[in-house]
Amino acid sequence: MKPFLHVRGLRSGYAGGVVLSGVDLDAEEGGIIAVLGRNGVGKTTLISTVMGFVRPYEGSVTLDGREIAGARVDVIARAGVGVVPQGRRVFAPLTVAEHLAIAARRRPARGPWTRARILELLPRLGERLGHRGDELSGGEQQMLAIARALLGNPRLLLLDEPSDGLAPAIVSQVGEVVREVSAEGMTVVLVEQNLGLALSVAEHVAVMRKGSIVHRATRAEFAAAPEDRRRLLGVD
Ligand SMILES: Nc1ncnc2c1ncn2[C@@H]1O[C@H](COP(=O)(O)OP(=O)(O)O)[C@@H](O)[C@H]1O
Ligand SMILES: [Mg+2]
Repeated sequence: MKPFLHVRGLRSGYAGGVVLSGVDLDAEEGGIIAVLGRNGVGKTTLISTVMGFVRPYEGSVTLDGREIAGARVDVIARAGVGVVPQGRRVFAPLTVAEHLAIAARRRPARGPWTRARILELLPRLGERLGHRGDELSGGEQQMLAIARALLGNPRLLLLDEPSDGLAPAIVSQVGEVVREVSAEGMTVVLVEQNLGLALSVAEHVAVMRKGSIVHRATRAEFAAAPEDRRRLLGVD
């Protein structure tokens, strides 16, 4: 059986330059895979290429058997892919409620993740509905970025370094949220530098280096392999 997300030989980059030199990645339906790797290895480029922000030069991306490589972002979004971008991309002058209204209008989608359900999952956002983007803490901005993606009821959620810059208590909340959406059947690709978060939520890890995936392991295998972690990530 083919995995829900099936990426083969994906090559892409910017202005003709190559960043991804042939990425292979699989994710089972409802599973969580963490993509790890040092700065600059191409993790965000991988997310951007799957989402359609960057056009691939070559390769295949299938979602539940449907080819989406090279399609437009809106087509890929409607096929069921959602993204929580690196840096969160929250708009300073817009309130939380306005962000949610825009996301709900742009991606009307059926599924379990209604506005009410999302505010139940992320109660802090409900208390901040009238606050502007630039009045939110980093953690609140991250929760808003996640809420915005969930409103589209994606079948595949791509999260790009959601823990970046957040306090440890907020990082574990992000982990809880990821576990909860996955438990409802959403497939998750979690790009992280925070190994603790990655290993606390993901069943599988894939390590990128220089534009391709050079190591795959289960969570348990990777947790038990300090030498691999040191060699591939430079962490203990
Ligand atoms: N918009 C862009 N235009 C040109 N080069 C880029 C762009 N974004 C990233 N790059 C380059 O692509 C490489 C991989 O970057 P990126 O995918 O952001 O890595 P990571 O997310 O793993 O830190 C880097 O050399 C970076 O400078
Ligand atoms: Mg990045």
